[in-house]
Amino acid sequence: MGVQEEQLQRGKAEETGSSVHPPYDYPDYRATRLRGPKRPLLVLPHTLSESTGPVFGHEVVGELDNDLTRQHAGEPLGQRIIVSGRVLDTDGRPIPSSLIEIWQANAAGRYNHKVDQHPAPLDPNFTGGGRCLTDSEGRYRFVTVKPGCYPWENHPNAWRPAHIHFSVFGRAFTHRLVTQMYFPDDPLFAFDPIFNSVRDPRARERMISQFELETTIENWALGFHFDIVLGRGSNGTPMVH
Ligand SMILES: [Fe+2]
Repeated sequence: MGVQEEQLQRGKAEETGSSVHPPYDYPDYRATRLRGPKRPLLVLPHTLSESTGPVFGHEVVGELDNDLTRQHAGEPLGQRIIVSGRVLDTDGRPIPSSLIEIWQANAAGRYNHKVDQHPAPLDPNFTGGGRCLTDSEGRYRFVTVKPGCYPWENHPNAWRPAHIHFSVFGRAFTHRLVTQMYFPDDPLFAFDPIFNSVRDPRARERMISQFELETTIENWALGFHFDIVLGRGSNGTPMVH
């Protein structure tokens, strides 16, 4: 589905109240009040490059880019985890050679970014960004540490559930998905307007990773499984910024 098509679908879904993707303007999520479009969306025609690109070769991704625990001299503090899964289309077909980028807070809940100045420590051994390409079966794998929860100023005593941001390019620029992956049983789910801006409870569930013993490595790291489904359809992964 193209971006414009998706925007139109989201607009329609807002009217009906049923959508995998959250509405652009969700008042409890304060930033959307300003950034949500107030006027009808314009449809722009696609050019060839939007529907055929990007094509990523393996040379664009370094061998260690998917391991956020090995980007510095020492290892970061925190619970070491392996996050893996597949990128699929809504018919369940794998999407190979798709660029996935992630970014996250450190184990203390602090981003390595000048805008984040809340009083939790930075970790000199953790930057919090990684990337990889899916293989021929649509599989990906990251090694990182579990991000901490962090405060944000959306409303009084507002804390985000632990999450990892994902950007997935899919087969074409117009398939790009930006979303957030959560961890099972987070006590903050009920209080988080970003999580709850996805109105369909089944769609919310699809943003929560599952603990996975098969990918857990003894004496080393916990495994979490997270599949990403790109495209229109009731089984898609929600678009969440
Ligand atoms: Fe975040």
